[in-house]
Amino acid sequence: MNEKYALAILGSPHATGTSAAMLDLAIRKAEEKNYTVIKVNLYEKDLSYCSGCRACIHTQNCILKDDIQEIADLFRKCQTIILAAPVYWANVPAPVKNLFDRLLGTVMEETRTFPKPRLRGRNYILLTSCNTPAPFSWIFGQSRGAIRSMDEFFRTAGMKPMRKVVCAGTGRQKRLPRKVVRKIGRSIR
Ligand SMILES: Cc1cc2nc3c(=O)[nH]c(=O)nc-3n(C[C@H](O)[C@H](O)[C@H](O)COP(=O)(O)O)c2cc1C
Repeated sequence: MNEKYALAILGSPHATGTSAAMLDLAIRKAEEKNYTVIKVNLYEKDLSYCSGCRACIHTQNCILKDDIQEIADLFRKCQTIILAAPVYWANVPAPVKNLFDRLLGTVMEETRTFPKPRLRGRNYILLTSCNTPAPFSWIFGQSRGAIRSMDEFFRTAGMKPMRKVVCAGTGRQKRLPRKVVRKIGRSIR
């Protein structure tokens, strides 16, 4: 039987925060489904800012030599990518945005018209948390903004969404709400 790999990325500075709790649960569920899960904490990685040189569009690899090569290889190796990150200013935190920038040529090829995806046949799961309570987090574009940004990256890469889970109103919560736990439980197939 072919081994199934999932890449679990933590895009929060809080290793025991809400996004981390969501990710840990998703990892347990993936392991129950016989995935081999590789966890990456973005805040522990050495990643310079994208210099915008666009060389990666042709080579598929970034010219800056740091931890991006390891992460790019994991994107190519894993069938499923799970990204957990909080909402920062109705978007993703800066290291997550920088990850997307650094992986430009890993995930897409430029054509005269639309970008051509380079990571077809893979799936993704998005987990996010924010302080604004539901439904305002969605109506006023807080969690919606973060999910939109993550979606843009993964869809352009040619990947298919498996599940998107928002944990809203985190200021008043001590543990993950049951609804969130249930949704994450149903994420992994
Ligand atoms: C710099 C910064 C910006 C934030 N921006 C928003 C925001 O736009 N909307 C929101 O609802 N919460 C915002 N928050 C709150 C976080 O999304 C919230 O505390 C989240 O649950 C933290 O998740 P974590 O424990 O996984 O780090 C922000 C927090 C920080 C530190």
